[in-house]
Amino acid sequence: MNRKKKKPAPIIIANWKMNGTLIDSMQLFKDLRKQIHESLVGCEIVICPPFTLLRDFAEKVPGTGVKLGGQNCHHAHHGAFTGEISAMQLKDMMCDYVIVGHSERRIQSSEGSELVQKKAAHAHTEKLTTIICIGETQYEHDNDLTKIIIREQLLHSIPKSANNSNTIIAYEPVWAIGTGKTPTDEQISSTHQYIKKIIAEELPHIEDSLRIVYGGSVNKDNAQELLANDHVDGLLVGKSSLNMIDFWGIIDAAS
Ligand code: PGA
Repeated sequence: MNRKKKKPAPIIIANWKMNGTLIDSMQLFKDLRKQIHESLVGCEIVICPPFTLLRDFAEKVPGTGVKLGGQNCHHAHHGAFTGEISAMQLKDMMCDYVIVGHSERRIQSSEGSELVQKKAAHAHTEKLTTIICIGETQYEHDNDLTKIIIREQLLHSIPKSANNSNTIIAYEPVWAIGTGKTPTDEQISSTHQYIKKIIAEELPHIEDSLRIVYGGSVNKDNAQELLANDHVDGLLVGKSSLNMIDFWGIIDAAS
């Protein structure tokens, strides 16, 4: 008999980017908490709000099942780095996760993979789970460079300290972020399988396979199909995590 191995519960990560005021965000969280309380949630939920909201979230998340994450961190423990935030400070605000190497930082702040790797390595010393983002641009996609870019980003962004419990890879094609476009099921399967292959063959110190989540124009209507893909372990959600109806639709699909 062909028994299909049951997938572990998916992880749904909300990346709020530079959105949200205190009042709106606390209301959204209140609504989310109420829904969680009344439902059977079958996925891990992580919220990565702007830094300004972390303290309020840190007081509200305990006991709700929701975990907190930062959207970025510096690679030093502390010091003269105006405008930066350290992994230690995120930990101090009850964060368990941090996103590193998001394409908006790679592109807008010129962050290269070597810097992403330093940030991830340092975040691991603070016992944060890193969500390392990789993905090709529209130009790279159109010119059949996806695999080259993905390999390059993986090999230079993943630190030696990475393992199955402290690292998640987020495959986010840049051309899919905020555009309403998503890759086909076959494209996602093939890229996620390629990511696994590169890690297994070229980063042999990482013993178990890492979880790989998909991100880019995820919404309540496509979440179920994306999660039905055997190679997708969860979703990284931007815009659709900013309002309760859309975000709950995704959590519902994951449950
Ligand atoms: P999006 O963003 O869901 O709005 O496309 C995803 C992301 O940038 O992480």
